[in-house]
Amino acid sequence: MAEYPLTVTTGDVLHAGAFDNVYVTLVGAQGRSNRTQLIGVGPGNETEKVGTFSVTSAFTLGFLLLLQVEKDPFHESEAKPWFCSTIAVRTPEDDDVFFPCYKWLSRGDLVLLRGGRATKAFEDFYPRLQDQRKRELVQQKLTYEWDEYAEGMAFVLNIKEPNSLPAEDRFSFSKAKHSAYRRKLVDALAETGILHSTARWENFEDMKNVSWLTKSTHAERVSQLWKNDDFFAYQFLNGVNPYMIRRCSKLPPNFPVTDEMVKPFLAKGTTLTKEMEIGNIFIVDYKIMEGLPTTVLDGKRVPLTAALCLLYMTNEKKLRPLAIQLGQQPSQDNPIFLPSDSEADWLLAKLHVRHVDTLHGLLVSHLHNTHLVAEVFAMATLRNLPMIHPLHKLLIPHHRSTLFVNTVARALLYGPGRFFDNSSISAEGQVPLMRRALVQLSYASLCAPDDIAARGLESVLNFYYRDDALRMWNVIHSFVTAVVAYYYPLDSEVSADSELQQWVDEIFNYGFLGNAASGFPSSLQNVEELIKYVTMLIFTVSARHASLNSGQMDYLTWIPNGPLLLHLAPPTAKGNTTMEDILTTLPDKSFGSLAMSLHWFLSEKYDDFVSLGHYPQRFSEPAVLRMIEDFQAELSTISDAIVKRNEELQLPYPYLNPKEIENSVSI
Ligand code: FE2
Repeated sequence: MAEYPLTVTTGDVLHAGAFDNVYVTLVGAQGRSNRTQLIGVGPGNETEKVGTFSVTSAFTLGFLLLLQVEKDPFHESEAKPWFCSTIAVRTPEDDDVFFPCYKWLSRGDLVLLRGGRATKAFEDFYPRLQDQRKRELVQQKLTYEWDEYAEGMAFVLNIKEPNSLPAEDRFSFSKAKHSAYRRKLVDALAETGILHSTARWENFEDMKNVSWLTKSTHAERVSQLWKNDDFFAYQFLNGVNPYMIRRCSKLPPNFPVTDEMVKPFLAKGTTLTKEMEIGNIFIVDYKIMEGLPTTVLDGKRVPLTAALCLLYMTNEKKLRPLAIQLGQQPSQDNPIFLPSDSEADWLLAKLHVRHVDTLHGLLVSHLHNTHLVAEVFAMATLRNLPMIHPLHKLLIPHHRSTLFVNTVARALLYGPGRFFDNSSISAEGQVPLMRRALVQLSYASLCAPDDIAARGLESVLNFYYRDDALRMWNVIHSFVTAVVAYYYPLDSEVSADSELQQWVDEIFNYGFLGNAASGFPSSLQNVEELIKYVTMLIFTVSARHASLNSGQMDYLTWIPNGPLLLHLAPPTAKGNTTMEDILTTLPDKSFGSLAMSLHWFLSEKYDDFVSLGHYPQRFSEPAVLRMIEDFQAELSTISDAIVKRNEELQLPYPYLNPKEIENSVSI
């Protein structure tokens, strides 16, 4: 008789416990154990329960291949799902084999777990394991099917109803409970009647009366600073869309700013041309928004300007706006606005830029370039990398909740009749915008050092996003280098890994529609390429997403700083705008406060937040566990440095503090 002691861990998530209808069977190279019931595995709602059990067999099983876990469909106990985290097995030969699970099992479910060292397909010598590896992926491809959301857009998961997703892909019970509580607070806002009021704001103070919901010191500062030129420019570097600004060495032909126009705002004795040569001129250009069909209100399309804005880095190292053109085509009735224009003209011009930048930030930088891209990564991982693959173990925590949150977003936020249908970019304009976003999205732009270099921003002072993004890129890169080099000591192992190649190929074809001009690879040939690719993926779904998601409450809940809709078109001549026009231009009370509550809802830190680099254990190899510990220690050092830096700043930049970055796109 051979005995196999088992240590079974129930998950630390709410409602993880089970009743006694759980059975395990060990499958070894020389046979199967008895099917053994785990009595008292995790009664009721107990979480993080560790139970010890024993599985027996008439003879030793040899090399342990698989561990079968099942919830008996016929057992008399209540049909309650069980969240199994891990099972550790000690063999009669005194080997410890660790089986990660991290799955919800419902009545009738049966899973086959792989234990021990992570392997690539060509490293599995047992035909039973090769076969299981293939079966697992066949099943995964049936569960996670691609769907063409719209022609010219990245493919998405083919499940429309969020609660139809597999249980481990859905929000945890605690997060669902927390978000339900937040929704109740939004309902409280509705009870004040404001969510149904189509009246305009009488004055700016009026807006503050609803911001009780969204109070943050930072948001309060934004409400005081929003008219200020320095703050307007600062946001291109350190706000919630730091991906638009670039150095300008030559004016685009459709933005005819002259020396004469901007001379009063430049240092004495210099010219625009000289300042461009030195590298002190910057530009933001929202050409991607040009000509999109916008929402129709009262029979008219609301305005959305594909604005251009020129900025100047002064001798005092302050970035300031120099000139704004509210549309791509220069003409007599599309004047270039300047800081010397009337207060109302200049403020209205800046308001149109904030409007287009906010929508660009939310729909292109955030939704498309992180959420939809993250969904492609998650789908490709789930479909092509089996549980025992080292990259599955490394990446699966970086896909947590992504499919669910995107499915919810499609059900509530995007598309006809959803929230953003009431913004300037209605459902009619969203698909064309996503198509343009995909065409413009390059591999290099998702790699932080390449992105900063391409935009000529290496030496800009007080650019905290860049400083922190590069720190994050570097620390992720060194962690990924260690893990990848451990599993892929040779370039030939990268090219020979058929699952990895299929994974990259699916991302290229379903995410980037086979567009070689994107720079996305369709295959990876060596270790260096793989390290960069995995770094890009982890950076995108963690740090890049945090830079776009976490500051929404701080920057956008003050409606004039982040309007999602404007009512009045840009002025066609200078001198006619009044301060009352600004209030008339802003979103009405209903949509303005609804948008405010959305930003607040999305930038919340939820109960089950997992910060970057913290992983449920999936690896067994001590060397890799040490790499994770080193990664966590380095992240902690960076976190301390960012906290210290922020203490010195009037407006802190906390969004890329590793303790505030979530592992995955999960909200
Ligand atoms: Fe998000």
